[in-house]
Amino acid sequence: MDITFSKRLNGLICALVFSLILSLVGCDQQVDRSLSDSAQQEAKTLAVRLLEADLERGELLAYSCRACHTLGPDEDHIIGPNLYEVFNRTAGSVDGFDYSDVLQEADFIWSPEVLDEWLADSNGFLPGNNMRFAGFSSGADRADAIAYLLQVTTDSAF
Ligand code: HEC
Repeated sequence: MDITFSKRLNGLICALVFSLILSLVGCDQQVDRSLSDSAQQEAKTLAVRLLEADLERGELLAYSCRACHTLGPDEDHIIGPNLYEVFNRTAGSVDGFDYSDVLQEADFIWSPEVLDEWLADSNGFLPGNNMRFAGFSSGADRADAIAYLLQVTTDSAF
């Protein structure tokens, strides 16, 4: 092999290896950046997440609630209680629904903040309740669902 050609080939291989290393390093940095983005997203307060909420996504996410809850006025309870006007209501207080003892005895009021905790881990929040739902681990998903529920379960006249 002619010497200049083999030098050129060496140079080419070096350049390829170098750019491969660069792209690998670049990829690692991207993974780190996206991890810290989602950690930042989780650290956001509910107020900020609600401001950024996506109502259309919230409507889709709320289909999982509709498997067990009606959301509109004067609708029947199904597996879970009707959720119309749930915000500002005392927990476990809707007439005609057979709540678990823990929810019936609970004396907190449903607010977006409380619902955020309930949807993150309802069993951790109130052990012994009867809601068999895994919840949403993503804070952004919870905010999207809560923003949608605030809109559809609240009497727009007030
Ligand atoms: C698999 C059925 C099921 C799903 C899915 C479900 N729930 Fe429930 N939910 C229940 C049951 C049952 C209860 C009553 C729990 C008890 O009595 O301990 C309940 C209770 C509640 C309560 C308390 C209401 C009150 O009057 O105190 C809220 C709020 C609630 N669910 C919100 C939601 C939301 C929001 C979703 C969707 C993101 C959802 N649930 C999904 C079954 C479900």
